[in-house]
Amino acid sequence: MQGRRLKTGVLISGSGTNLQALIDACTTPDYPAEITLVISNRADAGGLDRARQANIPATVISHKDYTSREAFDAAIDTALRAAGVEFVCLAGFMRLLTPGFVNRWHDRLINIHPSLLPAFKGIDAVEQALAAGVQTTGCTVHFVRPEMDTGPTLLQVEVPVKAGDTSETLHDRIRRAEHQCYREALRLIAAGKVAVSEETATISDN
Ligand code: GRF
Repeated sequence: MQGRRLKTGVLISGSGTNLQALIDACTTPDYPAEITLVISNRADAGGLDRARQANIPATVISHKDYTSREAFDAAIDTALRAAGVEFVCLAGFMRLLTPGFVNRWHDRLINIHPSLLPAFKGIDAVEQALAAGVQTTGCTVHFVRPEMDTGPTLLQVEVPVKAGDTSETLHDRIRRAEHQCYREALRLIAAGKVAVSEETATISDN
């Protein structure tokens, strides 16, 4: 019989391929999480269609409709709580959340970033890796803290940089790693296998 599933909200701004990976994971009968709400700050985000195709409630909360970041984040918080969301995944959400929001969701908020943090923080992580000439980059799933792209690391996957890579080809390769990494991260959390203590995330192996 299906056990209790962690009610998860996903925040997006764009194409939503990571959202799709989570949606697909949640269709697996024994996957311990379900997506109960998708929120986008952009009405043209492709991920909204992905959610609707999967019959998941999807809503637009535009930052342009609010006079402050605090008011925008409060609207997101209200929507998440109204939907009974217990845990939040950022999946290409391109707004920096306020400390108030991040602290309210402390250890119940994760992000996926297209580099091996702490290397290459920021919005152009893939371009930074190419410019630095590294042979290996990757992706990181981490718990969110107020400062951008910081917080306890949960999972990282390495991805090779290949000769002739452009930011598009490299980001495509990273995205494929992200999809596996993010579904595994949410599975581990929802299965109760992750503890965060003193800013370190620990995965139990049972
Ligand atoms: C991903 O590379 C993610 O790491 C970053 O934004 C991108 C979102 O891609 N935060 P998608 O919308 O999931 O395809």
